[in-house]
Amino acid sequence: MKHLLSIEELTAAQITGLLADAARLKAERGHHAEQPLAGQTWAMIFTKSSTRTRVSFEVGIRELGGKAIFLSKNEIQLGRGEPIKDTARVLGRMVHGAIIRTFAQEDVVDFAAYSGIPTINALTDDEHPCQILADLLTVQELLGSWEGKKIAFIGDGFSNMTISWMWAAKRLGFELAVGAPPEYQPSPDFLAKLDASNVTVTSDPAAAVAGAHVINTDVWLSMGQEDQKDKESAFGPFQVNADLLAGAAADHIVLHCLPAYRGKEITEDVLELHADTIFQEAENRLHAQKAVMAALAT
Ligand code: CP
Ligand code: NVA
Repeated sequence: MKHLLSIEELTAAQITGLLADAARLKAERGHHAEQPLAGQTWAMIFTKSSTRTRVSFEVGIRELGGKAIFLSKNEIQLGRGEPIKDTARVLGRMVHGAIIRTFAQEDVVDFAAYSGIPTINALTDDEHPCQILADLLTVQELLGSWEGKKIAFIGDGFSNMTISWMWAAKRLGFELAVGAPPEYQPSPDFLAKLDASNVTVTSDPAAAVAGAHVINTDVWLSMGQEDQKDKESAFGPFQVNADLLAGAAADHIVLHCLPAYRGKEITEDVLELHADTIFQEAENRLHAQKAVMAALAT
């Protein structure tokens, strides 16, 4: 594994291997025997806002022995139009790895190709692979495994989070039900490419949640869509609330990648009832990403 650009490109063995490493790094936090990033500097290039991703990577890099440089797009020439391929060729000669949060998946792919250094997708419009690794780690910790479990994703059916979850289901074989308004469901072309009979898509949120062991949601307006307020009107029936969860498996858990908008995709009472799980999920970003960086470090 040279980069982490998507869940799509991972094999099941790579995913389970990273999760095993993440669990070990979590248990060994504070007394790591190895420092795989010792002497290294990793650049973090962010074009979108972040709390969890930024902090977990900066802390993770330090705990693995390295140093992070945070570069927001507007502080570097990228923000004034310098092409990603030139930025990549400069940084590739100076730093040892890169973590990129941006809009186009193509930019992360191009950065990896032109820089020649390990490159991690820290969220694009197409995928959020680091979050899904943390989510799977949380499922493993709380439910033992995803095998034989039904996972539901309620909300925007064609966002970075849903796309990454659909690829995780394809690779790992668990049942995934996506409940989304008709106009925000995965495209037929995407579903044909995914070609996964274990992934179903429905406009009926209750059907998606029925018997589910894991109920996952995310914002209705992803970063970059803030001016699409009219989009929200389609999502009312897709709020994760106590009524909707009444149809889930008795021992269900609720995941939210955060940030959460209470009263929109999730109610205050549901978020607070499941806060232990949701903030465990947030913490797991740190452990999952340390496993990724340790695997990629050269
Ligand atoms: N879940 C997540 O990626 O959070 P941030 O946007 O705060 O990094
Ligand atoms: N779908 C959300 C995820 C935030 C972590 C977004 O892209 O804004």
